[in-house]
Amino acid sequence: MHLLILGSGGHAKSVWEAAKDQFEQISFLTNDPAMTGEVSFCGCPVAVDPQTDPAAVPDFDLAVVAVGDNRRRLELSRALRRRGIPLAVVLHPRASVSGAAELGPGTVVLANASVNAFARLGTACIVNTGAVAEHDCLLGDGTHLAPNAAIGGAVRTGEGVWFGIGSCAAPGIFVGDWSVVGAGAAVLADVPERVLAAGVPAKIKKHYGEI
Ligand SMILES: CC(C)(COP(=O)(O)OP(=O)(O)OC[C@H]1O[C@@H](n2cnc3c(N)ncnc32)[C@H](O)[C@@H]1OP(=O)(O)O)[C@@H](O)C(=O)NCCC(=O)NCCS
Repeated sequence: MHLLILGSGGHAKSVWEAAKDQFEQISFLTNDPAMTGEVSFCGCPVAVDPQTDPAAVPDFDLAVVAVGDNRRRLELSRALRRRGIPLAVVLHPRASVSGAAELGPGTVVLANASVNAFARLGTACIVNTGAVAEHDCLLGDGTHLAPNAAIGGAVRTGEGVWFGIGSCAAPGIFVGDWSVVGAGAAVLADVPERVLAAGVPAKIKKHYGEI
């Protein structure tokens, strides 16, 4: 199988690391002008296209968007699906994913991360290195658990939620659409949409408004 990875930043390297032993061939596609003239990335062929148009890469079977920004990753993933391009679920060989969990298309689970029983993750989520999504969690499309973030059982998130490095949420907590949980925060109460919640215990530090 030939996997197309969209992106050429740090997260793209992590996704390559997770995918490289599962796919016979990997190619990259990026719109980063700094990559112009480059022919390889992580030792794989790279195409540079200002529109990130997958037509620039011939003959791939599956694609995954490896862009850290939640909104951009979700937009690109949805655009691929609208074009009928199948999205890969990428699991690092050292990720632990329950057979009773459900992972949406384009979701990646990186090294030493865990997704426990009956967790359901939407489209284009990231469970980053060492992060934990406990049993019965329900993660909205485009949610990102950064390295070592840990969310307890039955935590629910809206769309595009970002848990920063080392943050955590108590079981059953809800975090609304496009909110950010700051690095190291401990979320002990529900968080509304489009805010930054940070600190221990987490408090609302900022309202992002409409994005
Ligand atoms: C949340 C974050 C992105 C900053 O977001 P932001 O919208 O730019 O927020 P600001 O820097 O304007 O901070 C707003 C307020 O929240 C506070 N704050 C921000 N992050 C905080 C944190 N992690 N813990 C405690 N307070 C924090 C700031 O000190 C500031 O307080 P003030 O208004 O009293 O000065 C950043 O602080 C953070 O936690 N980054 C995590 C990065 C990460 O995990 N990356 C993983 C990549 S895989």
